[in-house]
Amino acid sequence: MNHKYLDTNKALWEELTEINIGSAMYDLEGFKQGAETLDPIELAELGDIKGKSILHLQCQFGQDAISLARKGAQVTGVDFSEKAIALAKGLSSEQKVPAEFICCNIYDLPQHLDKKFDTVFTSGGVLCWLPDLTKWAQLINQYLKPGGFFYIREFHPVSTVFSNDSEDTGLKARYSYFHQDQPLMWDDGYAYADHSKKTHNPSFEWQHPLADVVSSLLTVGLKIEFLHEFPYCSYDCFPFLEKGADGRWRFPGGNDLIPLMFSLKAFKPVEK
Ligand SMILES: C[S@@+](CC[C@H](N)C(=O)[O-])C[C@H]1O[C@@H](n2cnc3c(N)ncnc32)[C@H](O)[C@@H]1O
Repeated sequence: MNHKYLDTNKALWEELTEINIGSAMYDLEGFKQGAETLDPIELAELGDIKGKSILHLQCQFGQDAISLARKGAQVTGVDFSEKAIALAKGLSSEQKVPAEFICCNIYDLPQHLDKKFDTVFTSGGVLCWLPDLTKWAQLINQYLKPGGFFYIREFHPVSTVFSNDSEDTGLKARYSYFHQDQPLMWDDGYAYADHSKKTHNPSFEWQHPLADVVSSLLTVGLKIEFLHEFPYCSYDCFPFLEKGADGRWRFPGGNDLIPLMFSLKAFKPVEK
């Protein structure tokens, strides 16, 4: 797929990869010592993945893919950042945890990979980079074996309706909840994993309402097993959130105002 915005996003992700790999958020040293990088929600909901083949879409530099492989899964990770995939390959061999990594735009994956998987997995800041969820769902369906499942844990689209300026003290609705053909452009240099760093490329991001996520998967024939919404986030997506003892970021005073993350599992039915 050629898309005029994706080249700019790729350039941004080459910058972010360099920032992220050295950040406290991604804690590379801890990871090398064996720290878990999968989110507790994923750990609770994925089930036993030992011996399963997993396609990980938008895997960045492979920490989660290698975490899945550490649990005995055969993992193939895909990302369009060359730096991220080079780092992922290096980490996999340094850690002696075999995993395959492919560098490409996910929409071009059929030119690089012809295989079926038990599970397609993706998580944590992936959908906003994708212009077309219909093609995304077709890709997921194409790579799933009958009886296999798709799993996503993602930041909730309701949360991206509100501004997250550093001086904000509460929720201020600013952006549309609904999908627009034209992406939003961000050029504030924001580096989510290290607020002391600045990026130079802008980003182009698409809003995808939950209904579009669900409908795209239903349209290709997947059966939804569950859709969960969570009132907390894995990072400080608003400056006024408070971090709890469990490492989750919540609204002050324990007010569960809006959903900040969701997870969804959907099966590909076995053909009769
Ligand atoms: C926030 S990361 C998500 C990965 C994981 N949650 C993490 O934090 O490491 C988003 C990833 O999507 C990748 N990405 C964005 N658009 C893509 C595309 N069209 N094809 C492949 N990868 C893409 C970026 O390079 C980045 O590594």
